[in-house]
Order: sequence, then structure tokens, then C-alpha cells
Amino acid sequence: MPLRAIIDRTGGPEVIRFVQTEPGQPGPGEVRIRHTAVGLNMIDTYHRTGVYRLALPSGLGMEAAGVVVALGPSVQGLAVGDRVAYAALPLGAYCEERLFKAEHLVRLPAGVADEAAAAVILKGMTAYYLLHLTYAVKPGHSMLVYAAAGGVGSLLVPWARHLGATVIGAVGSPAKAALARELGCHHVIDYSRQDIAAEVRRITAGAGVDVVYDSVGKDSFAASLNSLKRRGLLVSYGNSSGKVPPFEPALLSDHGSLFFTRPTLGHYTATRQELEQAAGAVFAAIAQGIVTVKIGQRYSLQEAARAHADLEARRTTGATVLLP
Ligand SMILES: NC(=O)c1ccc[n+]([C@@H]2O[C@H](COP(=O)([O-])OP(=O)(O)OC[C@H]3O[C@@H](n4cnc5c(N)ncnc54)[C@H](OP(=O)(O)O)[C@@H]3O)[C@@H](O)[C@H]2O)c1
Repeated sequence: MPLRAIIDRTGGPEVIRFVQTEPGQPGPGEVRIRHTAVGLNMIDTYHRTGVYRLALPSGLGMEAAGVVVALGPSVQGLAVGDRVAYAALPLGAYCEERLFKAEHLVRLPAGVADEAAAAVILKGMTAYYLLHLTYAVKPGHSMLVYAAAGGVGSLLVPWARHLGATVIGAVGSPAKAALARELGCHHVIDYSRQDIAAEVRRITAGAGVDVVYDSVGKDSFAASLNSLKRRGLLVSYGNSSGKVPPFEPALLSDHGSLFFTRPTLGHYTATRQELEQAAGAVFAAIAQGIVTVKIGQRYSLQEAARAHADLEARRTTGATVLLP
């Protein structure tokens, strides 16, 4: 029987365990997928630790690629044997086979391998909406991108550069600084030894940047506010160091009438049209060489706990895939 990961309680990576489960036959609007590669994301660790609350027991994982092995009634536009990927709820991507709603799947173009799709569908659609919808990046804009050598960061950086922005990457080590430069950052700040806001002010001759893409959260919030231009936008899109604590709206006026948003992928891919637009933009960006899928680490599916530990300890770069 196929394996799937579950957690019965929140905690460290050791709470992830594998059980054998028969997914059964797909119901109306569903397909059965055999996974070929599963994407690891920071959000999986928030689910595991309880930063985002779940009803337990629960599966884990929101991103995977695979092959359709059975169709339920009334599924249109998909056939057995189709290669597909998704980045969506319900949790449970850490498994060998599962049932999934056909409306949340995208078919993979021939030029995108399964591993690449699992590495990029969630992170790439995130990079797409952050750069095109949350803020419409145009030539001449300046930005600060945290965790520039990470999964989302390694897609954001080259894509932003392609759009004509000046990209300042912020990273946590000298090795990641070298990687961020290779990805296309015009400037790199190593926050293990440099003051982020002071460096941003130095690089921008005192002006600050138009937009900050902050995935670090609690530890970086103050530096992000201090790195923005008047009326700039702080996009707080992740909590890698913990959640941003509550703050007074007046803080935004104190720092120059700033704008603040806390976006999430699901609200940018909620309709079929939005999903197809975002996935299509990612596949086109890969085909045109605007972004390159960087798989920094591969683990077997059953090594998911070790993969979580490495991600949380900031040992990973680029994307990470789990292989069933
Ligand atoms: N809102 C959305 O729609 C959305 C969608 C996808 C992802 N995200 C968010 O985007 C971020 C990136 O996700 P990802 O899966 O690609 O992960 P990732 O960036 O590959 O890994 C997280 C990185 O965050 C940095 N970091 C800084 N402080 C940290 C800390 N205390 N603990 C752990 N890491 C820390 C580390 O890079 P350095 O060593 O360089 O600091 C680490 O490598 C996450 O915050 C995730 O929640 C949001």
C-alpha cells in the first residue's frame, strides 16, 4: 500500500511518521495521482510546529508533481497518464499516492521535468504574484529580497532583475552571498555580519528601496521598515524566524507613510483563471530562461524529517524535493 506522512501532534521533525494508506477510488471531480516528486516548503514546518494551527492528525505538504493514474466521474481535460502538478490544500503532498481535486491541477509542459515542477510550482507562482500582482515591478524600481538564495528567493531574484529592477539580496552567510550574486543580485547584504538598513541606505545613497520582500518576519521587521523609501511597500510574505508581532498603524506613518501587506498564494490563485495565469507565467519564465530551477537538495520521501531539520537550520539553498 502507498505510504503517506502524518503528524498526530505538533513538535520537532521527529513527529513526522509514515503510514500505509489506500487512497481509494477518485470521487466526482477527483483524480488519483502517483507522485513522482514532492516539494518541501517552509510552510510545511509552520504546520508541523503549530505556527499555523491544524486539526490533528494531519498530512503534510502542499506541493507535488506526478502522474494521473485514475479519473473520477465528470473530470474533464485530464487523462490517465497525464503529468500534473499542484500547489494547494488540502495538506498531504508527502505521500506516494493520493486523491486530489482536478480543478487544482495543472498539466506539465514537455520541457518541465517532474522534479523541476515539484520544486517550482508553489515557489514560482509565489514569485510571479509577488512581482506582478502584489507590486507591479517595472524598470527602475529598487527592491530588497530576503533569503535571496532560498527556494522562493532564487526565483524572485532573476525574475525581478529580468523585469528591470535593481535587486538587493539579503542572506545569512558568505556562501549564500556568493550564490545570491550568481542568481543576479546587483548588491548583496550578508546579515550575519552587516546591518541591513544601514547597507540599504548606503547602496541607495540614502533613498531606501521601493519595495521589500520580507520572508523572514519577526527578526527582520524593523530593518525592513528602515530600508524603505517614503510611501514604499513592505511585503511581509513569510515567517521563517517567527511571526511579526502586532504593531500600531502609526508605525507606518512614522517611517514615511509606508504601505504594508501580508499576502498569501491561495488568495492569488483562487480561481481557475488565476491558477492557469500564474502557472503559465512560471512555465513561460522557465522556457524563456528567465528563471532556472535550482534544486539544492534531494531526499527520499521517508527522509522528510531530516529535510525539515535542514531547512529550519538554514542549511538549504534553492529548492528541496522529496522523492517517493
Ligand atoms: N505568502 C506566500 O504566499 C508564501 C508562499 C511561499 C513561501 N512563502 C514564504 O517564503 C519564505 C521562503 O520559503 P522557502 O520554502 O523558499 O524557504 P527558504 O527561503 O528556502 O528557507 C528559509 C530561509 O529563511 C532564512 N531565515 C532567516 N531567518 C531564519 C530562521 N530564524 N530560521 C530559518 N530560516 C531563516 C534562511 O536563509 P538565510 O540563511 O539566507 O537567512 C533560510 O534558508 C518562507 O518564509 C515561506 O513561509 C510565502
